[in-house]
Amino acid sequence: MFMIDNINNIIMLLCKGMANRKLYFSDHPRVNSYGSEIIDLANDHFRSTGSSELFIGIVDGFFIFDGKRVFGPSVTGKQLIQFAERLYSGGFALQKGIKIGDLQKFFDITANRGVPVKTIAEARTLFTNSGIKNIRIAEPFSDQVGNIKRDTAKAWEGQAVSKGLPSPTFLYQELYDVVSNAYGDAAFDRTIDIDKARSVSEFMLRYIQSSFADVMQHVHYADYDSYTVGHSVRVASLAVYVGSAMQWSKKDLLAIGSAALLHDIGKSRIPDEILLKKGKLTDEEFAVIRDHPRAGAEILSEQKDVSDLDLAACWGHHIRYDGGGYPRQPGWAVRHPVTALLQICDVFEALTAVRPYKEALDPRGAYTIMLADRGGFHPGLLAAFISMVGMYPPGTYVRLSDRRVGMVTEVGEHIDRPKVLITASKIGEPLDENDRYMVDLTELQSQSLSVDRLLLNFIG
Ligand SMILES: [Fe+2]
Ligand SMILES: [Fe+2]
Repeated sequence: MFMIDNINNIIMLLCKGMANRKLYFSDHPRVNSYGSEIIDLANDHFRSTGSSELFIGIVDGFFIFDGKRVFGPSVTGKQLIQFAERLYSGGFALQKGIKIGDLQKFFDITANRGVPVKTIAEARTLFTNSGIKNIRIAEPFSDQVGNIKRDTAKAWEGQAVSKGLPSPTFLYQELYDVVSNAYGDAAFDRTIDIDKARSVSEFMLRYIQSSFADVMQHVHYADYDSYTVGHSVRVASLAVYVGSAMQWSKKDLLAIGSAALLHDIGKSRIPDEILLKKGKLTDEEFAVIRDHPRAGAEILSEQKDVSDLDLAACWGHHIRYDGGGYPRQPGWAVRHPVTALLQICDVFEALTAVRPYKEALDPRGAYTIMLADRGGFHPGLLAAFISMVGMYPPGTYVRLSDRRVGMVTEVGEHIDRPKVLITASKIGEPLDENDRYMVDLTELQSQSLSVDRLLLNFIG
C-alpha cells in the first residue's frame, strides 16, 4: 500500500524543487537532489501498486490523491497548485520511466514567471517541446454539471466581498504566500509587497473574529519548507487573535498582523549554513543571528509603504520587558504594546512548535517557562495572553475524561475548561460533520468532565 505520507513527500519535494529552481540554475545539485528523491518515491509507487502512473489531482485549491484531499501540502504547496492552474490543468501524472531530465525541465518551466499558454492543449505542447516525456498534464476536474473548477483567483475576489468567507485553508495559503514571497524578495533586494501583507492582515482580522479555531487548526501543520515562514504565520495568527480578544483598535490589529508576518524578515539575509546549523554556533555565527532584528528593520526601512510600527516591532521583537535581549535599546525608548505582544507570541510559538532539533512543549510547559522568566515579558500582556489562549488553544484537539475527542473552539472562563466540538465518540468512532456537537466544560452539566489530554499533532 502506497502511503499517504509518500504523496505528501512527493508534493513537498516538487514544491521544494520549484522554489530552489527559482534560486539556482537548472542542474544545481539541490534541484537535482529533490528530483531524484521524487523519482525514488514514484518508483516505489509503481512497484507497490503495479500501476504505471502516479496521479496528483488539483481541485479547488487542494491536492487530491486517490479521491481524497491531501490536506497538509495544500497549505504550503500553493505554488504548485497555481502552476497547475496557469496550465489550465487539473493536476499532474508522473509516469513510469520518469527521469531526472523530466523533472529538471518541469522545474525550468515553473521558474518562468509567465507561462505563455492559453489552453491545456498549448500547455501540453509546451511540455512536449521542452522535452518532458514522462509527466502528463491532466484535464481539469469537472463537476457533474460540467463546470470546470479552477479559477481560485476569481473565487478569492468574489468570496472576500460576499458574506461567506473562503476556506481557512485559503486564508492560510495567502498568509503563507505573503511571507514566503517577502523572504524571496528581501533575499534578492527586490521590493516587498507591504500592501499585500496589510490586506491579508485585514482579511485575517475578519476571519479570526468569526472562526479563530478553524484558522488555528491550520497553524498546527508542521512547516516542511522553512521554519521561518510557518513560524511567522503562526505568530501573526496568535497575535491578531489575542489582540482582538483584548479589543484592540483595528489600527493596532492591522499593525500587529503585518508586523508579525514580517518580523523575522532579517533572517532572509542569514545564510542557511548558520540558520539551519545543527551543532553549536560560534560567537561570530551567533552575532549574525542576533543581528536579524536590526537587519530586518533595515530591509523594511527601504520599502515605501512601511509604517513606523512595522519598523519598531521588527527591530524590538527580541527586546525583553526589562530592556534586556537584543539589539540594545536606548534608555529613553518607549515600547509599543504591539511590539510587546509580538515578543510574547514569538516566544510562545517557538516553545510550542515542532522543530527538527526539539520536541514541542504543550502550552502549560511554555507558560511555566515564560512565567519563571522574571522581567522577560510585559506582565499584563502575558496574563492576557494566557487567559485568551489557555491550556488548550482553539484549533487544538483534546481527549475528554470520558474518552470523547474534539476540537477546542473557544477558551472558556477557566483556561483549562474550554468549549469543545466533539468529533469522535467514546469508542473512537469519527462523527459525521452533521452529528458533531458542542460541549462547554464551564457548564454545570459538564461538571464531572475534564480534559484528559491535549492531542498535539492530531488533525481531525
Ligand atoms: Fe526573531
Ligand atoms: Fe520570530
